[in-house]
Parts: sequence; C-alpha cells; structure tokens
Amino acid sequence: MIEIAPLTEENLARAPEWEVYPWSCRYCLYGEHPELVDPSMEDRAGSFERKLAWLRRVRTEFGDCGRLLYAGEQAVGYAPYAPPTFLPTAGSYPAWPVREDAALLACLFFPDPRHRGHGLGSLLLHDVLGELRARGTPAVETFARKGSADNPSGPTEFYLRRGFRGLRDDPAFPLLRLDLR
Ligand SMILES: CC(C)(COP(=O)(O)OP(=O)(O)OC[C@H]1O[C@@H](n2cnc3c(N)ncnc32)[C@H](O)[C@@H]1OP(=O)(O)O)[C@@H](O)C(=O)NCCC(=O)NCCS
Repeated sequence: MIEIAPLTEENLARAPEWEVYPWSCRYCLYGEHPELVDPSMEDRAGSFERKLAWLRRVRTEFGDCGRLLYAGEQAVGYAPYAPPTFLPTAGSYPAWPVREDAALLACLFFPDPRHRGHGLGSLLLHDVLGELRARGTPAVETFARKGSADNPSGPTEFYLRRGFRGLRDDPAFPLLRLDLR
C-alpha cells in the first residue's frame, strides 16, 4: 500500500537509508548545512541530530517541510522543501536566487531504482504541491537538471511536463518555478 506522510521529528529515522552514507536521506545535510557536508565523515548520529534540529526549527518557523512516501512499512521516497533561507546550499547554484515567496523543493528522490518509473515521483510531487497550495504558499521552485536525473530534485523534463516553467536558465541546473495561486 502506498502512503504519503509529512516528514516529522518522529519519522525522520524512517527516511530512506541506502549504501552511500552520508547522502542517505535521513542523514543528508547537503541542502541544509553545506559547511558540514563531507563524504568522508562517519558521524551518523551527529548528522542525524543536526538534521533533526533543522527539521524542528523549520517546522516551528515555517510548518511542514517534507514528505515521505511509504510502500508498505518502508519509506522509499523523500521530498524536503522549505523557504530558501533554510536551504543555504541553494546559494551556490548559478541560477540562484530563489524568489523569497517560494518554497524551494530541495530534493525529490527514490534511492532504489526499482521504485522509479511507476508514477510514485509524480504522486509525491503532487502531494507536496497540494500541501503548499492549501497553506497559501505562492510558488514552488527547484533546481532541476538538464539531460540527466542525477540531481537532488531530478530531471528538468519531469518538472516541465508537470507545469513548471523556466525562471532562470543555466547549462546544467536551471531554476524552475510553479505558481500555486
Ligand atoms: C526523478 C524521480 C524523483 C522521478 O520519480 P519517478 O517515480 O521515477 O517518476 P514517475 O514515474 O512519476 O515519472 C517518471 C518521469 O520522469 C522521467 N524521467 C525519469 N528519469 C529521467 C531521466 N533520466 N531523464 C529524463 N526524464 C526522466 C520519465 O521520462 C517520466 O516522465 P513522464 O511521466 O513525464 O513521461 C526518480 O526517478 C528518481 O528518484 N530518480 C533518481 C534521481 C537521482 O539519481 N538523483 C541523484 C541523487 S541526489
């Protein structure tokens, strides 16, 4: 059975984990703490605590800021989002800045390839957009990737076919936007 749930302090420990630590969703600090991302680090507990602190802060100051998609008991899809001030890594993308009225979709990811290509990504994106629209968030933006899915939020084509438009172009990571109002 497929279920989608808000990402919370209670279920962060169930966010997908895969072989490549520290990029596993439950530890990954790529968007949240660029100064701490070091692929050689092995402090899983410390990464998890930092991620938990980020989640607590954003949920207090902004509200829901992520979704997990479950296939049965297992969370297999992950989609964090937040206003750009909470995701400082975005400032390193050439197509920066994200507009202040938008939530930045930092990642839309199914670590296991067996879960891709069955409509789950579309379902998860639809849920994120619905949640933000219901709260009155004016827009969602994301740095997609041209010609490849190897990117936190996936390929440009995926978003263009789902109503996003190019806001600022870049040879590799254009900034895309969907107005929700
Ligand atoms: C991108 C992703 C979230 C989409 O989720 P999904 O469940 O596969 O998506 P859906 O089945 O709903 O839809 C698949 C769509 O994505 C497109 N797509 C998938 N991979 C693609 C690629 N490499 N290039 C272009 N489009 C691609 C498909 O063509 C399809 O488009 P369409 O429905 O408009 O025809 C998922 O495939 C994923 O996690 N990919 C891995 C991304 C990655 O490697 N990230 C690096 C780690 S940070």
